[in-house]
Amino acid sequence: MQVARVRKAAGKTGHAAAEPPAPVIADAAGLRRRLVRWYARAKRDLPWRRSRDPYAVWVSEVMLQQTQVERVKEFYRRFMARFPTVRELATAREADVLKHWEGLGYYRRARQLHAAAQAVVADHAAEFPRTVAGLLGLPGIGRYTAGAIASIAFDLPAPIVEANSRRVLARLAGHDEPVGGTGDEPIWELAAAVVPRKGAGVFNQALMDLGAMVCTPDRPLCGGCPLAGDCAAHAAGRVAEIPVMAAARAPKQIRETAVVTRHGDRVLLVCRGPGEWWEGLWDFPREPHGAAGESIGHVRYGVTHHRIECAVVQRRVTRAATPAAESRWVSIAALESLAMTAPGRRIAALVADQPGDHQRATVSRGQRAANRLGRLRGGG
Ligand code: ADE
Repeated sequence: MQVARVRKAAGKTGHAAAEPPAPVIADAAGLRRRLVRWYARAKRDLPWRRSRDPYAVWVSEVMLQQTQVERVKEFYRRFMARFPTVRELATAREADVLKHWEGLGYYRRARQLHAAAQAVVADHAAEFPRTVAGLLGLPGIGRYTAGAIASIAFDLPAPIVEANSRRVLARLAGHDEPVGGTGDEPIWELAAAVVPRKGAGVFNQALMDLGAMVCTPDRPLCGGCPLAGDCAAHAAGRVAEIPVMAAARAPKQIRETAVVTRHGDRVLLVCRGPGEWWEGLWDFPREPHGAAGESIGHVRYGVTHHRIECAVVQRRVTRAATPAAESRWVSIAALESLAMTAPGRRIAALVADQPGDHQRATVSRGQRAANRLGRLRGGG
């Protein structure tokens, strides 16, 4: 059953079968009132909600794009303490920006944030454009981020669609077509239709909070939902089936070997280049699976649609060859201060667990003594 569609098809446009009409929400004005009243009482106290500075809104929204709210909180505080204004971010070194992003993942976001800060300073006298179109012109700012900044910082009636609000809107309208990618178009239309002319920032954040706290993916709390009476999915008993998610792609399995080339207490690192995952971050070089060396462990990690099984081998060298342009010898003690990829950081932990050359010499002297003793005792 498609409650919202039936209503529209019977309406004055009357167009039918071939192209499914966009889903609709009936009482948008009442829905806004109920939602905003609920939000005033129930909203989450989040650090970025204490400011309507477009720079602060922008940083938080970029962080929130692929990372959970709870995890973002601390990163946001640290990032804003280090780069409190768009000028400070624009003039920072990229390595410093990446270091403050380490652990959040999806580093392209940090590089684009940095580039966009430079564009805001260079092309807009350090003032954020005050229109959706102007915001969309900045590097890395897409429809969602532009809508979030425009509505939250400038209170422009701009719609937003992200995972939480998408779920709320799809359920309200009983929209049972797959969402995600181009499937989000009808949801954007819904969002544009319901966003109020005044108070759009509060309304958009309320939609997101409702999705996060009440209209959750599993076991939504419909009994406590201020919009239960507006909700087509609830009326049809189909909340568990909506939104319909496009089938996830099967992950691609990859096997590789990370090589820790070690000279004394230094190791050879490589900086990931353009077009590679984690561009600008440091890591241990990779070779095809099965590459030679002393095994010191394994790391498993996922990137986009890939599941990677990475053997880690160590090669001790007696001569430190001059590194290639994108490589560097780094002391193990200094790894902590570098911006490293997530698997690189875990490989560094394996390296730290290995005995150093001095300890190794002690161990092998001890081992040689034990062997001599064994030979004397056992006569072997
Ligand atoms: N998710 C993305 N943006 C958000 C915001 N501003 N508040 C809460 N959750 C969010």
